Amino acid sequence: RTAGLRDGFGRGIDYVRLSLTDRCDLRCRYCMAEDMTFLPRSEILTLEEIVELARRFVDRGVKRIRLTGGEPLARRGAVQVATEIGKLIGHGLDEVTMTTNATRLREHAPALRAAGIERMNVSLDTRDPAKFRHITRHGDVAQVLDGVQAARDAGISVKINMVALKGLNEDEIEPMLIWCGEQGYGLSLIETMPLGVIEEDRTDRFLSLTVVKDRLDAKYALLPSAKRTGGPARYWSIPELGATLGLISPLTRNFCEGCNRIRVSASGQLYMCLGHEDRVDLREALRSDDPALLDNAIDRALGAKPKAHDFHIGTPATERHMSVTGG
Ligand code: GTP
Ligand code: 5AD
Ligand code: SF4
Repeated sequence: RTAGLRDGFGRGIDYVRLSLTDRCDLRCRYCMAEDMTFLPRSEILTLEEIVELARRFVDRGVKRIRLTGGEPLARRGAVQVATEIGKLIGHGLDEVTMTTNATRLREHAPALRAAGIERMNVSLDTRDPAKFRHITRHGDVAQVLDGVQAARDAGISVKINMVALKGLNEDEIEPMLIWCGEQGYGLSLIETMPLGVIEEDRTDRFLSLTVVKDRLDAKYALLPSAKRTGGPARYWSIPELGATLGLISPLTRNFCEGCNRIRVSASGQLYMCLGHEDRVDLREALRSDDPALLDNAIDRALGAKPKAHDFHIGTPATERHMSVTGG
């Protein structure tokens, strides 16, 4: 089959995010609650099932696969999965990428590069050790910075994901941009999204990227970039800093009309939208002997993909946290 996947609004879907686990070694305050219940092992797809799912999606015209979590590298066998899926590159698949917190990259980056991963998005909200510990509740920023360096040493190009948090890392946006420019890393700023209940009211930390952009505009020349990854970011280049800036503004600037993606949780639930509960179970279909069942399930899901999310910052749009679908 080559027609490719299309949803009920005519949007072509050629990008799938596969979550390898809902677990994470960190507990970022905006992402997870302090006390989380994770899926029991019996609920999650096996490594073989994840790879099989990737194959089936590629058969259906999917061009890009991103491995996510929780923290994808917290799943034993993550490198193996990347390696198997990497073999599909050039056979229908254009790229395999990963979004990671980088704590385990020193160990795994070379093998991930060998698997075919050429670029990676790393979550790093601050380079300040005390603030990093505060935001992640557990993290050691030195380990993460070393992981980022390891990715670069392995020849993987890095984009930093920074969730913009009012009064927390607001004053670090400019230094982060300068640092990323120096290091040759892209920087994407992300507005915090209301997914799952956390200890705080997200309103208190919400920082509009329209405001951030205005502040940067007052100081630097931001040139709109033609670069599109099919993702939610709008890109700008700042020649003075040698930096590339992506702005992901789900709250202040909706980008859903161009949505090209779907997500599968570690338990095999196909989520059509980050901001909705609607899902279709692929695990049962995957485990049946009838290959048509999986195709039917995917088609059913696509037909039900919502037009857009409906985020209101103070009210969780979903019960599930970002860690279930990996962003
Ligand atoms: P590239 O553009 O390929 O680098 O990737 P990406 O932006 O899809 O990857 P990444 O995982 O780094 O995504 C960055 C963040 O953007 C995610 O973690 C989410 O927070 C947000 N995001 C990605 N896709 C969507 C989407 O469909 N809707 C919303 N609301 N946010 C999204
Ligand atoms: N809102 C916005 N971004 C979030 N992330 C995790 N939780 C949220 C949230 N509630 C980010 C992480 C990571 C990416 C996968 O999503 O920092 O970079
Ligand atoms: Fe873990 Fe990423 Fe969530 Fe932080 S944002 S707790 S690193 S999954």
